[in-house]
Amino acid sequence: MKLIYFVVSLLLTPMVLNAQTRQEYNLKAWSFSRDSIHWQQVTVPHDWAISGPFDKKWDLQVVAIEQNGEKEKSEKSGRSGALPWIGKGYYSTVVNVGKVGDKRAILEFDGAMAEPTVYVNGRRAGYWAYGYTPFRLDITPYLKNGDNKIDVSLQNVEESSRWYPGAGIYRPVKLVMTPPVAIDPWGTYFRTLSVGKEEAKIAVDTRLRGYEGQKNLAVEVRVYHPKGYVERAFHASVGENGLVHDEITLHNPRLWSPETPHIYKVETCLYQDNKLIDRTVLKTGVRTVTVDSIHGFRLNGVSRKIKGVCLHHDLGPLGTAVNKAALIRQMKQLKDMGADAIRTAHNMPSQMQMEVYDSLGMMVMPESFDMWIYPKCKNGYARFFQEWHERDITNLVLANRNHPSVVMWSIGNEIPEQWSEQGRDISKQLQEHCHRLDPSVPVTQGMDRAEAALKSGFAQVMDVPGFNYRVYKYDRNMKSLPQGFLLGAETASTVSSRGIYKFPVTFRVTKAGADGQVSSYDTEWCSWSNLPEEDFIADEDKSYTIGQFVWTGYDYLGEPTPYDEYWPSRSSYFGIMDLAGLPKDRFYLYRSVWNKEKHTLHILPHWTWPERKGKVTPVFVYTDYPEAELFVNGESQGRIRKAFGLRVDDQNPSTGVLAKQRARRYRLMWDNVIYQPGELKVVAYDAQGMPAAEQRVETAGEPAAIKLEADRQTIHANGEDLCFITVSLVDDKGVELPRATNDIVVNVTGNATFRAMCNGDATSLESFVKPQMKLFSGKLVVVVQAGTQPGNADVEVSAPQLGLKKRITIATQ
Ligand code: GAL
Repeated sequence: MKLIYFVVSLLLTPMVLNAQTRQEYNLKAWSFSRDSIHWQQVTVPHDWAISGPFDKKWDLQVVAIEQNGEKEKSEKSGRSGALPWIGKGYYSTVVNVGKVGDKRAILEFDGAMAEPTVYVNGRRAGYWAYGYTPFRLDITPYLKNGDNKIDVSLQNVEESSRWYPGAGIYRPVKLVMTPPVAIDPWGTYFRTLSVGKEEAKIAVDTRLRGYEGQKNLAVEVRVYHPKGYVERAFHASVGENGLVHDEITLHNPRLWSPETPHIYKVETCLYQDNKLIDRTVLKTGVRTVTVDSIHGFRLNGVSRKIKGVCLHHDLGPLGTAVNKAALIRQMKQLKDMGADAIRTAHNMPSQMQMEVYDSLGMMVMPESFDMWIYPKCKNGYARFFQEWHERDITNLVLANRNHPSVVMWSIGNEIPEQWSEQGRDISKQLQEHCHRLDPSVPVTQGMDRAEAALKSGFAQVMDVPGFNYRVYKYDRNMKSLPQGFLLGAETASTVSSRGIYKFPVTFRVTKAGADGQVSSYDTEWCSWSNLPEEDFIADEDKSYTIGQFVWTGYDYLGEPTPYDEYWPSRSSYFGIMDLAGLPKDRFYLYRSVWNKEKHTLHILPHWTWPERKGKVTPVFVYTDYPEAELFVNGESQGRIRKAFGLRVDDQNPSTGVLAKQRARRYRLMWDNVIYQPGELKVVAYDAQGMPAAEQRVETAGEPAAIKLEADRQTIHANGEDLCFITVSLVDDKGVELPRATNDIVVNVTGNATFRAMCNGDATSLESFVKPQMKLFSGKLVVVVQAGTQPGNADVEVSAPQLGLKKRITIATQ
């Protein structure tokens, strides 16, 4: 073990912010063990379970899912991802801090899954119950000069989650050494009080730690304009309570919004006897958020309807180990779709995630809990709620309130106590707690029992009443809501598998089939949910809605509805994008409505159906254009216009007939197309009836080559950056083979390594971390991770059964 610690300590990366003031150690290199006997070297963020193997025995839940209306228990094999996340895990590292002197040491976890107990030099330094909460431990009493050993033991218990929670130290850990009197970053609060055309009023709070008994303390705050110059600076002496408060005016403020993600920096310097003793830098932004019955949701005084998606925290084949490049890739895709918001369902986000959302421009609803006192699964958070909820909410808000991307806090999702007065009182108490810590944004939660929540007053006490699904109840809900508006806190739950089409095409509540897949015609929803059109209509026609968060932006590990009882199904079908981050057809449906900057013209299905010659094969087109004409091998199939202004009964749950009627307002559908190999062509017409755009899909021939598309040609040589390469097969004319399932083998050489691969097939049991996998619906994604040396990496991709090979070079710098 000694040798391991020596190596580990060499790998640590102390980052000296300022020689005289604080020092930060980003603790990346750890030894890891499942049994405290066999150890291996790992890099944090780390998810011990993502390498598998998949097996139905892991967390096999024999349960009735109440939320889905089930009464009888049955075996739910893939409910939490069918990966080995249950059990114990141990992490250990050594950090050399030099001479401790009078310094204070804070160990910062951004979350650890789960129930982390932390030891420093063999002594218990702290514990946290909830795996998602960012928490900090003052480990000063346990620290010594030179090497310090930090051990973390974790445990995950069965039936503690309704999805894949991941396992291990899946988010960064930092050791921060500060002087005895220091700035508390969570006590620094940059709050926009008001914004006008010409100025913004800001309150700036600073809190110190260890100030008791100290004299001659002064704080200097500098606010940096997004362009980099100091815009305001002020000095203040420190009050007896260790607090500094000031209010400043910023002229011509650059306001933060998804479209203009301007970041201000706040530098805080702490002086004692005129000597600089501590310094922190906070990245934040200027924005206001309000909600009311007249203007709905307003960001910086401008009304907008939220175009959001819910996201679970796993990153597909990377598991829950948080990664900046993967988050940025998601952001770019979601922005291209026209989305402007994310709900971190159903738990606290990572800081890395929040920084990406701040800087790229995504509004965020950070969430806290999936349950309070009444358990939704046997060993869920309900075990901890009473004792821990206040600390958890406190840390959620303090860690995140300076992120300008936060537009509302969520105190819960589908809390079973919706019907009770106790539930209402807890709502009030949690909401008030959020207000106390951050009066700048409203508070919401997602409710699924509208009648009960309205009867108990649970819905009425919320700043923002958020309803999950059941759009047909919105009008009725409104009658009892004093707020005068409502949010679609969770919407759609439409299900589909990328590239899989089933015939006949039927609009219906989804049912499990024999193949573990759901048709990608986007015609299937759950008994509690609906197709996207119902939410589009609510957003467009009902002035009281303030927007929505679609369930979900990406497929996630676990909850394979409608295949909860089908093995091997281990990931969701809800995603607009699949588990590999490849867009499903639905992506283009949302894009056609949400992206107002760019045109969308997308045809489905693919046109390679040797077995369907002469058979009816409906064709759908997702476009923002109002009208289009479809051709099969040059023969017109008719010109169709969207059924604008179409109203259908919206007071009852969706039926196939209603859903299809609604779809006619947003999709162009040719129901009776007879399949002939060749070419499908669509010509779109603009509002003036002029041809505006064309799109084609061709029948694919035999595989002739491998096609590789890298999301970036150059990545940073920082050991963490990632390149995502989409692999497909093409025929000799370059047409992609949409049904290929061939084996693909990957070999990475040079300054990068193979990290993972994924094909988006919810029923695949192939490992994400082995460089071999089958294509699913003709595609898969390879994830390549940068090394630490600048140079090149060669990624060789082969299809051995076909004798095909292709190489791509990625630069690392
Ligand atoms: C909701 C729930 C989500 C997810 C979703 C699936 O009721 O809040 O966590 O289970 O259903 O449709």
